[in-house]
Amino acid sequence: MEQLQHKTAVITGGNSGIGYATAADFLAKGAKVLITGRRPEAVQQAVATLGGDVDSFIADQGKIEDSKQLAEYVRDRYGKIDILFVNAGIGTFATIADVTEAEFDRIMDVNLKGAFFTVQHLLPLMNDGGNIILLSSVNAHSGMPGASVYSASKAGLNSLGRTLSRELAGRKIRVNIVNPGPVDTPILEKAGVPKDAINIDHLAQRMPIGRMGRPEEIAKLVSFLASDDASFITGVEYNVDGGLSVHPLIA
Ligand SMILES: NC(=O)c1ccc[n+]([C@@H]2O[C@H](COP(=O)([O-])OP(=O)(O)OC[C@H]3O[C@@H](n4cnc5c(N)ncnc54)[C@H](OP(=O)(O)O)[C@@H]3O)[C@@H](O)[C@H]2O)c1
Repeated sequence: MEQLQHKTAVITGGNSGIGYATAADFLAKGAKVLITGRRPEAVQQAVATLGGDVDSFIADQGKIEDSKQLAEYVRDRYGKIDILFVNAGIGTFATIADVTEAEFDRIMDVNLKGAFFTVQHLLPLMNDGGNIILLSSVNAHSGMPGASVYSASKAGLNSLGRTLSRELAGRKIRVNIVNPGPVDTPILEKAGVPKDAINIDHLAQRMPIGRMGRPEEIAKLVSFLASDDASFITGVEYNVDGGLSVHPLIA
């Protein structure tokens, strides 16, 4: 039987990268999927290539009003949902001296505040026994220079996940967190880091698996956590990072 049959899922930031790959995996496993995104043409394109039982809604995760409208749409169209994958996120890379207040707010608004209120607004629409997955990053625990704001936003998300796993336990809603390492998506280019500026070989050398991850490899874990096969798993963080976070004391 298909693992996510009879489940309805909302994925934020589903038009690209990990969100898109997860939408494809959820659909292949029998779920009904609603993806969100901020750029109508990119979202339409994703819907067209995903095919199957997929729907979309334009909502900027950095705008609280948009998450309210998303919840209204979901209520009117589906009534209830079973899975919420809060995936939309942006990166920024600058040392502390160069971070502006506007840039700090932009990252926090999308990655943390927006994620928080997306959960708050969709929670009344979740079936008891449903589940939430928060897409964080290994940066939540690392001390990567130049990533102070991004890392803090993700650390906040992991804290939120832990709290919610206890707060929502009475409704049997499971909450889990996924921390990818470097995955081959356009996120860095969108943050203004050109692809040829990233030293892929150097990155790969630091990972026992010896390469960057693929979006589909993150999607498979998300699908597992979203399914009833993960019925005894809540409040947990999973690093999916090719072993990056396992540091040898002596190289
Ligand atoms: N790639 C990595 O190495 C890596 C590692 C660890 C964690 N992550 C996390 O993984 C998540 C997905 O990123 P990705 O790597 O798959 O990058 P991506 O390909 O850029 O996907 C991010 C998705 O989120 C959307 N999005 C961004 N800001 C949004 C907003 N304000 N409102 C609604 N949607 C928004 C993007 O839309 P647009 O197409 O319009 O930008 C896109 O659909 C992020 O939370 C990221 O922090 C990524």
